[in-house]
Amino acid sequence: MATTGSPDYRDSGLVFAPDFLIGSATASYQIEGAVHEDGRGPSIWDTFSHTPGKITNGDTGDVADDHYHRLDSDLDLMESLGLEAYRFSIAWPRIQADGTGKPNEKGLAFYGRLVDGLLDRGIRPIATLYHWDLPQALEDAGGWVNRDTASRFAEYAAHTVEALGDRVHTWTTFNEPWCSAYLGYGSGAHAPGRTDGAAALAAVHHLNLAHGLAVPEIRRAARNEPDVSITLNLHVIRTPEDATPEDRVDEARRRIDALANRAFLSPLLRGRYDDDLLTDTAGVTDWSFLRPGDEEQIHQPIDVLGVNYYSTVTVKMWDGVSPRQHADGHQDVGGSPWPGSGDVEFVVQPGPYTDMGWNVAPDGLEELLVSLHEQFPGQTLMITENGAAFPDRVVETDAGKTVPDADRVDYLNRHFTAAHRAIERGVPLHGYFVWSLLDNFEWSWGYTKRFGIVRVDYETQERIVKDSARWLQELIATRRTPAVPSLVE
Ligand code: FCB
Repeated sequence: MATTGSPDYRDSGLVFAPDFLIGSATASYQIEGAVHEDGRGPSIWDTFSHTPGKITNGDTGDVADDHYHRLDSDLDLMESLGLEAYRFSIAWPRIQADGTGKPNEKGLAFYGRLVDGLLDRGIRPIATLYHWDLPQALEDAGGWVNRDTASRFAEYAAHTVEALGDRVHTWTTFNEPWCSAYLGYGSGAHAPGRTDGAAALAAVHHLNLAHGLAVPEIRRAARNEPDVSITLNLHVIRTPEDATPEDRVDEARRRIDALANRAFLSPLLRGRYDDDLLTDTAGVTDWSFLRPGDEEQIHQPIDVLGVNYYSTVTVKMWDGVSPRQHADGHQDVGGSPWPGSGDVEFVVQPGPYTDMGWNVAPDGLEELLVSLHEQFPGQTLMITENGAAFPDRVVETDAGKTVPDADRVDYLNRHFTAAHRAIERGVPLHGYFVWSLLDNFEWSWGYTKRFGIVRVDYETQERIVKDSARWLQELIATRRTPAVPSLVE
C-alpha cells in the first residue's frame, strides 16, 4: 500500500502500536569510563585512543560519561524518560581481561546490576556482546584477522549468557561488523588502525564466523528464550542524477553493495558469499581463510535483524583523472575501507547535513527497510540505531537548564515518519532505538560530536535533558509522534 504524507517526511500524529519497542542506545567504551577498574583489561580502543594523532583533541574513553560510577542515576534518568528498552553493550575486556579463560566476576556483576536495574524500572535489556572493544591481547595475537578470535568470541558469549541469560530480552552478537572490519583493518580510521585490504576481508569473514559460532552458544546458555540478533550498518546506495554512461553507475553500485551489504547479509541470511564479491576482491585476497563448512556455520536463524541507519551514499566509477571524491561518511586517514574498489568514487551528496557531515535522508531509511523485507520476507527488523549529531547549546530557564535541539527533534521526527511508512507497507519492524541516550565518545571524533538526547557536561558529568528526549518521552507515553515546531533550514 502506498502511503501518503508530507513529501519531506515531516508528519505528526503517527500512531505506533503498543508493542512497538521504543528506546535508546549506547555502547560500553563510549560511555563507561573506569577503564582500569574491577579487573577490566585493555581493549583495542584504549590502545588506539592513547596513540597520538588518532583521535580529535587526543580524547580517550578513560572517563567518558563516567557511567560505570553513575549507573543508578543513569538508570533513573532512563526511567524518567519512560524508555521501554535500553540497548547497551558489554565490554569484553571486563568479562575476560585478555579475551580468554575464566570470566571476571566483578565485570559480570556490573552488567548484572545494570540488567537488574533496568528490569526493576520496567525497561527491557537489549544487550550487544561486541561494540568494538576487542581485548588488546587478542589483537596482539592477530585480532579479527586470526580465525581463533572467532572461537574466543563464542566462548566469551557463552560465559556472559550463562551469567545473565535468564534476564536479557535480546542478545545481539555484533554491532556493525562493517566498521570493525573495514575501518579497523582497511582504512585505519578505527582501532586497531591497520590499513590492509586483505586483512579487512579476513576480518569480515571471521566476524561473520564468530556470529555463527556464538548464536548456538547463546541459545544453549540462555534460560529465557531470548531473541538473538546481529546489527548491521547497511548502506543505502544511490547514484548521481546527472550520471553519464562513463560513470558506469550500475557497476559502482553493485561493487559497493557486495562489499558493504552482501558481504554480511548473504552468508548470514542466505548461507553463501556471493561470487561477485569473491571475484571483485580476487586481486586483494584469495579468500583462503574461507573453509568448508564455514558458510553453513554462519547461516544461523536469527530472531531479529538490527538495522543502524544514519544517511545514504552516492557512487559512480572514478574516471581516474579528476580528484577522487571519497564522501563515504568516514574520515580519510590514508587506507581504503573499500578493498578492491579503489576505483569507485563516493560523490558529495545534497544536504542538509548533520554535524558529522552526513546527509539527512529519511527516505533512505524507508527504502532500506522495504528492501530488506522484500529480500528476506518474514525476517523481523529493528532499528537499533538512528540519530544525529548537532552542535547543541545550553539555555538557562526559570525551570533549569535545557537544550533546544530543534534540528535533532526534526531529524528524529522525519525518521520515525519513515519507519512508520515502512510499517504501513508491511515491514515487520518491531522497534526503534535512538542513538544515543547520552552525548559520548564518538570514536575517532572524540567528544566533538554530540549525538545524545541527553547532554553531558564533560567537566561536571551533569546530565541535561534535551528537547529531543522530551519529544521521545511524549512519543512513548502517547504512542503518537508529537507535533514538531517548524525548522528553518
Ligand atoms: C555507529 C556506531 C555508534 C555511533 C554511531 C554514531 O556507527 O555504532 O557507536 O558511533 O555510529
